[in-house]
Amino acid sequence: MTVTRGLEGVVATTSSISSIIDDTLTYVGYNIDDLAENATFEEVVYLLWHRELPTKQQLEELKQQLAENATIPKEVIEHFKMYPIDKVHPMAALRTAISMLGLYDEEADVMTKEANYRKAIRLQAKIPTVVTAFARVRKGLEPVEPRKDLGFAANFLYMLTGEEPNETAVEAFNKALVLHADHELNASTFTARVCVATLSDVYSGITAAIGALKGPLHGGANEAVMKMLKEIGTIDNVEPYIRKKLENKEKIMGFGHRVYRKGDPRAKHLKKMSEKLTKLVGEPHWYEMSVKIEEIVTSEKSLPPNVDFYSASVYHCLGIDHDLFTPIFAVSRMSGWLAHILEQYDNNRLIRPRAEYTGPSMRTYVPIEQRG
Ligand SMILES: CC(C)(COP(=O)(O)OP(=O)(O)OC[C@H]1O[C@@H](n2cnc3c(N)ncnc32)[C@H](O)[C@@H]1OP(=O)(O)O)[C@@H](O)C(=O)NCCC(=O)NCCS
Repeated sequence: MTVTRGLEGVVATTSSISSIIDDTLTYVGYNIDDLAENATFEEVVYLLWHRELPTKQQLEELKQQLAENATIPKEVIEHFKMYPIDKVHPMAALRTAISMLGLYDEEADVMTKEANYRKAIRLQAKIPTVVTAFARVRKGLEPVEPRKDLGFAANFLYMLTGEEPNETAVEAFNKALVLHADHELNASTFTARVCVATLSDVYSGITAAIGALKGPLHGGANEAVMKMLKEIGTIDNVEPYIRKKLENKEKIMGFGHRVYRKGDPRAKHLKKMSEKLTKLVGEPHWYEMSVKIEEIVTSEKSLPPNVDFYSASVYHCLGIDHDLFTPIFAVSRMSGWLAHILEQYDNNRLIRPRAEYTGPSMRTYVPIEQRG
């Protein structure tokens, strides 16, 4: 047996959804740079699920389906009110709420292709409502009902604040959603595929994926980046803070990647947005500090920033609470998870690797009275 720690370099499946080749990320053959500049998130959802960009009519149909399915059962909101609200991380609340949505879906265990697609629509439609409702309930505010006339990005920001967002905010948020939508066999997507490869249901697959995304080595890194920026506080403190962390062999959140070597192609878009938005809200120091951190980490460790590094200051400038950064990642990645789950069902085989045993062997049971 050859052990490959962390499954690095192991090709575990074929997939026609997204690819990372020579540090270029494509969704179904479209370069992410092209999509980030031109596509709406809804178009990307359609692309990931159908492997083609939608016609006008197909897009309208998807938007209508998302709008019609965006409300969530009142029981989910009542449940939020029962949580020990000041102690619950929104990712934990999201994980529980998505699992709970399955209890209210009569088709949860219907495994036909059509029923699974309908569940995909429901989950993609409801996740913004879940995240924003929790964000408001924990502050003692009433959730804001989704609006049918707003696009996906605008509706999220509207439900979060209760106010219609401006065009710059919608454009930035849409771009962030497009950039996070899918990423080949990342840890949470792999988790989702492992789960549904047992022929478990879509809700179980997504709940498992949210659990994997929550960790700071994966989606949790964007919140950790903002925490670090706040801890650093001033541009003068960047150098001593980062050097000390590197000396102590601590990881700098938002840097490094398992697959990319020269750099994460998504980071440059978020960097540009961070520069623009931090200036716009009169807080350019977040961007300036980030650039300085990048200079040090790149020169000292040859580690370029990943998608999470500049998304932190972008979301901060959009007025989003820092512990909602990872749930927002989930709102977008839901589209990729669902595409992979549907693809897994289409050509399923149980995913069950092996472990090389390193424990003791040839032991004989000793009665409890005789154990020292
Ligand atoms: C993304 C990540 C988990 C990839 O992990 P990986 O492929 O298993 O790489 P490793 O953790 O084994 O790191 C390899 C080497 O680079 C170093 N390294 C990797 N990321 C680092 C970081 N962010 N800061 C400092 N050093 C880092 C490791 O310490 C290790 O050094 P060593 O060989 O001297 O021990 C890792 O880069 C990381 O933890 N980054 C920070 C968290 C993050 O931003 N996650 C979001 C990813 S999109």
